[in-house]
Amino acid sequence: MSHDTATLDATSASASAPEAAKPRKVFVKTYGCQMNVYDSDRMTDALSKDGYEATETLEEADLVLLNTCHIREKAAEKVYSELGRLRDMKKARAKDGREMVIGITGCVAQAEGAEILRRAPAVDLVIGPQTYHRLPDAVKRAKRGERVIETDYAIEDKFEHLPAPEKARTRLRGVTAFLTVQEGCDKFCTFCVVPYTRGSEVSRPVAQIVSEAEKLVDGGVREITLLGQNVNAWHGTGPDGTEWGLGDLLARLSEIEGLARLRYTTSHPRDMDDSLIEAHRNLPKLMPYLHLPVQSGSDRILKAMNRRHTAAEYIALIERIRAVQPDIAISGDFIVGFPGETDDDFEDTLRVIEAVGYAQAFSFKYSIRPGTPGAEMDGHIAENVKAERLEKLQALLFRQQNAFAEACVGKEIDLLLEKPGRMPGQLVGRSPWLQPVNVDANGCEIGDIIKVRITGTGRNSLFAEAIGWRADLKGA
Ligand code: SAH
Ligand code: SF4
Ligand code: F3S
Repeated sequence: MSHDTATLDATSASASAPEAAKPRKVFVKTYGCQMNVYDSDRMTDALSKDGYEATETLEEADLVLLNTCHIREKAAEKVYSELGRLRDMKKARAKDGREMVIGITGCVAQAEGAEILRRAPAVDLVIGPQTYHRLPDAVKRAKRGERVIETDYAIEDKFEHLPAPEKARTRLRGVTAFLTVQEGCDKFCTFCVVPYTRGSEVSRPVAQIVSEAEKLVDGGVREITLLGQNVNAWHGTGPDGTEWGLGDLLARLSEIEGLARLRYTTSHPRDMDDSLIEAHRNLPKLMPYLHLPVQSGSDRILKAMNRRHTAAEYIALIERIRAVQPDIAISGDFIVGFPGETDDDFEDTLRVIEAVGYAQAFSFKYSIRPGTPGAEMDGHIAENVKAERLEKLQALLFRQQNAFAEACVGKEIDLLLEKPGRMPGQLVGRSPWLQPVNVDANGCEIGDIIKVRITGTGRNSLFAEAIGWRADLKGA
């Protein structure tokens, strides 16, 4: 890549050749959202230039990276408990004269970098999400005994410096892939740390995204999920010089031969423009699934959260989307117990859930995040009240999810086969609505898209029988 930094150039294949006999191993533990999953792969790719191979066995790792999440208190705490375990392991290794470099990446690294170094002497390096392209260099510095911290918002575009996915590694990773197209957030919801950990909103350029998508498809990927903290805020300039939104980008990616399915997540209700809604009518490769968090159904709470829309506007938006694509599965995120939330506010949230009918949802008790405006607000809600509300809300969402699954029984759908199932001869794929579906393989292979009939529901999955091939997709 012409944009490689001096660091990456200095670690070309020939420089690392003497190490080839005994490859170094990197173990990456990923917490949090899909963007961290994507980042973990990019970091592993960047390190491969220095001869590092990914391992899933902690014991054999020379380098351990915890790619962390700061979204709720519990998520952030996990890092420190994991670090206790790693510290003991590192000490035991040192006795045998073996080295173990420990690095913290991700959103906790960004938010608490200096504190981590102070609290956890076993940590050798801390790298925030904007500086992953500097990871190979940071590892070298750490191996020379330096304690490295890189948490500035890098001016250079990290995506230009991080290596694109390579064919061989893509093949090992499977037939579905994430592709980050947008990063950061300027929305500043009053409960949320993301604008502080991921920085301000940045969209990757069209050519960079198309090239990465083509490389993924070349490596056998059949379904790509575009990622962004606010993926539908993505914007860019098309090859013809016009301003593009996510709908236009999806249309361009749809043209890639061999790519069968597209998804995107996570969307903000305020950024759902007409062209994106129309894409759900016009693009057969775009799956009928939309993750559109509302957080609360109370206008008062939505205002305090700085979501900048009302419950009625959200419901009207869902209606517009369903008018275009009646088959769409709606998924959402909810927070209960935001400061000042009354029983009436909570009832409003239940009413929105009833009005929308969710196929899938994620719900959380409000967690105080230091440094966010919510933490300073009056009217914090007692834990037991939050727990009661969460239980009630989840019971309703669970009923809706089951009803959605039950309504699928008898339907004939296309299934993208992703991995082996639990039973011999079984494969698991995803329905267009993202549900895992178990089916008897019947001579089909991972990566095939086959026609199946849904025959029943399980706890979190569906069962199906194969009823043929989709001739137009097979071998595409
Ligand atoms: N950008 C997305 C959300 C990303 S964070 C959006 O705007 O919808 C993922 C989810 O974590 C959020 O949707 C929210 O439901 C939850 N979350 C974020 N901060 C939280 C907090 N302080 N306490 C509890 N849940 C939180
Ligand atoms: Fe957080 Fe709000 Fe940005 Fe979503 S839109 S990442 S909830 S600040
Ligand atoms: Fe967590 Fe950071 Fe994602 S806080 S949810 S890993 S953007």
